Amino acid sequence: MKIERIEAKSIPDTRGKPTVEVTLHAGELSARASVPSGKSTGSHEAKELRDADGGVETAVANVTGEIAREIALRDFASADELDTFLIALDNTPDKSRLGANAILGVSIAAQRLFAQQAGVPLWKAIAERAKTTPGAPRLYVNVMNGGVHADFRLPFQEYILVCEGKTSSALATARAAFEKLGAELPSIMLGTGGDVPMGDEGGYSPTFDTLEKPFELLAALAAEHSGTSIAIDAAANELRDGKSNYILLKKTYAPNELGMIYHTLVERFPFHSIEDPFSEDATQDFVRLTDALRGKCLVVGDDFTVTNPERIEAAREAGAITAVLIKPNQIGSVKEAIEAVEATHDAGWAAICSHRSGETMDTFIADFAYGVGAHGIKAGGLGQKQRLEKYERLLEIEKEAER
Ligand code: PGA
Ligand code: ZN
Repeated sequence: MKIERIEAKSIPDTRGKPTVEVTLHAGELSARASVPSGKSTGSHEAKELRDADGGVETAVANVTGEIAREIALRDFASADELDTFLIALDNTPDKSRLGANAILGVSIAAQRLFAQQAGVPLWKAIAERAKTTPGAPRLYVNVMNGGVHADFRLPFQEYILVCEGKTSSALATARAAFEKLGAELPSIMLGTGGDVPMGDEGGYSPTFDTLEKPFELLAALAAEHSGTSIAIDAAANELRDGKSNYILLKKTYAPNELGMIYHTLVERFPFHSIEDPFSEDATQDFVRLTDALRGKCLVVGDDFTVTNPERIEAAREAGAITAVLIKPNQIGSVKEAIEAVEATHDAGWAAICSHRSGETMDTFIADFAYGVGAHGIKAGGLGQKQRLEKYERLLEIEKEAER
């Protein structure tokens, strides 16, 4: 395929922060993609190129300048070939020269173009490329937002209701539970009552004075709906006290004490998974918790593994986790995100595909999760249209797959 024209521009994400949007044209075909952006990022992620003022003008210029120029000179047989070319063109280990945001925008739009050319839905093109069996992921619905996504009104970053089954029934369950929780919260949360604050990912963000209260609420929802369970993203990088301990609700905990908290929560509540229970390089703490919770609850790496096949391999050698979060923008190309899924599945682990806390209307992650047959998808709460778009796309895919 010859990509004749590339456009790029800066658009606002859900936090109003600039992010990259790319449009590719090839003959009659055209495809667009926009790139999400994280806030609780891992230090080992590929580098999102930001200008001194927080803008993405340099990244946009890299797409319309060097990348467009180089791509116009060539003909690509596959999206994979194009990704390989982009990775080599950047020629840094972390995509810091052209920017992971610039490269991923082109990479996703190109995947869409090649799917159009083949006349297949995007999820199907991804499944063929990744050699995976497509299927509906569990919905990880982030019903209560905390941590850096909500000024630490709740200590952990994400309180998730995991909904299993067909997307249409899982989403109906999630909607009922989300609505019920929204109606309950004003009378039970601390503070003024009235409107419930919302967090960055479209979930509620109440305040409570105990660590357990949000789990009691989640457990009540889970008890009401079969096929549901609890997950959290502790995002423990953000809980560090600057030494080797962690702070929750103003109290300091050593790693083994934090481990005990997780253990007690898992014993008491119907847990499915715990993400980033410790900071990004605390491998031995991950190993200990994974051993303690084996068969009871998945331990998920996010900042710990950063969608990087090499870090996933190292985690495998250590036996540090049992599931991996897959965020394409942590590694900066569709090709490498697929390789991260492969490394995850090779380890016998669960892959959970994820949006970022700064999102756009782009629904690529829904097709990606379905295409690779992911264990789950994190697409946020139901109180923000950019999150709902992903769930809506999964509903569309359910229909496409039945045809
Ligand atoms: P982020 O949060 O997009 O702000 O990194 C999501 C997560 O930690 O899973
Ligand atoms: Zn996370």
